[in-house]
Amino acid sequence: MELDPDSLGARDMYEWMITTILPRPIAWVSTVSPEGHTNLAPFSFFQAVCARPPTLLFCPANDRHGRPKDTLRNVEATGEFVVNLVSFALAEPMNATSASLPHGESEFERFQVMSAPALKVRPPRVAAAPVSFECRLDRIIHLGEGPIAGHIVIGRIIHFHVQDAVLAADGKPDPRKLDLIGRAGRNDYVRLGELFRLERPE
Ligand SMILES: Cc1cc2nc3c(=O)[nH]c(=O)nc-3n(C[C@H](O)[C@H](O)[C@H](O)COP(=O)(O)O)c2cc1C
Repeated sequence: MELDPDSLGARDMYEWMITTILPRPIAWVSTVSPEGHTNLAPFSFFQAVCARPPTLLFCPANDRHGRPKDTLRNVEATGEFVVNLVSFALAEPMNATSASLPHGESEFERFQVMSAPALKVRPPRVAAAPVSFECRLDRIIHLGEGPIAGHIVIGRIIHFHVQDAVLAADGKPDPRKLDLIGRAGRNDYVRLGELFRLERPE
């Protein structure tokens, strides 16, 4: 099968991308509006970028009416966000927070997700998340226009929190204890299965 993006609608192209580029890690992003309302939403177009400077990115698309999502509005207005990682135990509340609530209504409060204060930024972290990265906005790259057009939010990690319970004897996270989930296509998710090792070539 051969496919030409130009002959597919944006919605179809999105479906092809989410059913092929997987599994994707999930950034559960907390932000705060200039008025002080907290917001929480998941994003699976998410990746680490580099360690020097410590940088990650996630991509909030416009909604189907072409409007920016609350997360993007808050990040643009305040320059701060927290990326919380999602363990299997947090799958249900994470999914609940993807509902579109009116701007200003907090998913933390609506879905009773317990928060904890961040150390260096205003948005709170998710208290039960195994790892939370406190980020300061580096830049936003806007791609396209209108419905489902994308925005790459690039953040500098200025502090991060790791639950002691997920650490292995060597002081680094044990992937089994992290128990992170990833996004596959449709409504599917993955959980860590079999691990295998490969030595890197010199
Ligand atoms: C697992 C998961 C991953 C998601 N990934 C993305 C994503 O990468 N980009 C995006 O724009 N929306 C994504 N969404 C949808 C947003 O979470 C949803 O539009 C949410 O309402 C945005 O909230 P906000 O308006 O408070 O920012 C995802 C939803 C789920 C459940």
